[in-house]
Amino acid sequence: MKRVDDFRLTLGKKELVPLIIGGMGVDISTAELALEAARLGGIGHISDALIHDVSDRRFDTAFVKDKTRFYKHNIDNSDKSIIRFDLGYLAEATRLHVGRTMEAKKGDGMVFVNIMEKLTMNGPRETLQVRLNSALDAGIDGITLSAGLHLGSFALMAEHPRFRDAKLGIIVSSVRALQLFLRKTARLERLPDYVIIEGPLAGGHLGFGMDWAQYDLATIVAEVAQYLKAEHLDIPLIAAGGIFTGTDAVRFLETGSAAVQLATRFTVAKECGLPEKVKQEYFKASEEDIIVNTVSPTGYPMRMLRNTPAIGSGIRPNCEAYGYLLDGSGGCAYINAYNAQIALHPDGKNISVMDKTCLCTHMRNYNCWTCGSLTYRLKDTTRRLADGSYQELSAEHIFRDYQFSVDNQVLLPT
Ligand SMILES: Cc1cc2nc3c(=O)[nH]c(=O)nc-3n(C[C@H](O)[C@H](O)[C@H](O)COP(=O)(O)O)c2cc1C
Repeated sequence: MKRVDDFRLTLGKKELVPLIIGGMGVDISTAELALEAARLGGIGHISDALIHDVSDRRFDTAFVKDKTRFYKHNIDNSDKSIIRFDLGYLAEATRLHVGRTMEAKKGDGMVFVNIMEKLTMNGPRETLQVRLNSALDAGIDGITLSAGLHLGSFALMAEHPRFRDAKLGIIVSSVRALQLFLRKTARLERLPDYVIIEGPLAGGHLGFGMDWAQYDLATIVAEVAQYLKAEHLDIPLIAAGGIFTGTDAVRFLETGSAAVQLATRFTVAKECGLPEKVKQEYFKASEEDIIVNTVSPTGYPMRMLRNTPAIGSGIRPNCEAYGYLLDGSGGCAYINAYNAQIALHPDGKNISVMDKTCLCTHMRNYNCWTCGSLTYRLKDTTRRLADGSYQELSAEHIFRDYQFSVDNQVLLPT
């Protein structure tokens, strides 16, 4: 019977344990979590979502405070179009987070950064360009392009000296999205080094509509593999979404995936950025508690726990502090939803906004409990303590369980 450790992922000259911890913003996939994956010979992701805030918390900078002070006069204005991100600060925050993480790296694995195109930051092109190039400047091993089609992203870093040497990959949920990407980047003569195929059971935003349940990861992986074969393209495929045990992973590794990307099991790791209280909510969840809804202003469906505090919260849009989802003309679907409620309740007191949520603020405060579809099985991966709470696990324990377990078994902590 095979186990994950019988396989290796080859990326350039590197031979890696074929386990990747996926990017989870905002600082849910912390540097500490990513570094553990790298130490153990796999790949870990950090995320550049709300990078200024991450830098402030980790390195005592004051990017968010300074920006809030600068735009303070606009807080009561529903027009957010004047809010801009200082590109110099953006570069500085990215270089700090990525650079410090890379300095701390040990072992034979790699650390990548997850960069979401949907964080349009009221200046989609110029901010993305700075994010990508600053991450390369700071020595990141690789960049995973996510949450968007990224049709122009490779071109934005094509002049960087590390463009052909850093590992660059993309997350897609269909063969069509990959075809579009490859067509658009063909003139750069630079293929992605890996393609992550994220199925409908993943956490975070889904690359499907509300009909997500009609899709199946194994089928999409097979379609993508067939397409690449027909095109004579040799790009490692990485399956993601709902891979809960080492045995699940082996099933994908035996059928053409070069590695698997995981997240849900690691949300309850000590190194994961979620507060202890929120980790307990993930452990406690039952299958019915896990829902997919459309409250994210990005327009993508998102999976989360039913009791997520972000749902129905009517806080004032906080774009002066954050504003990462502003679309380039100062728009965000939450601002519209909020304004519609204010029109009905002009005193602004006790309002509840059901259809959208202020995702920046709630992700920042760990109040949007996004999760994978198998979160309800986390309780079976640990022990219950005398006080009724569940024991947190180490990232190493979870990683090694994936690497060495057989027969659908999950090793409980000692
Ligand atoms: C809490 C959480 C947050 C996530 N945030 C992001 C994100 O910011 N960007 C992204 O590309 N994927 C995100 N994902 C998706 C994961 O990186 C990963 O591909 C997927 O969840 C793997 O499936 P699994 O959770 O069933 O193991 C998130 C997943 C979880 C569970």
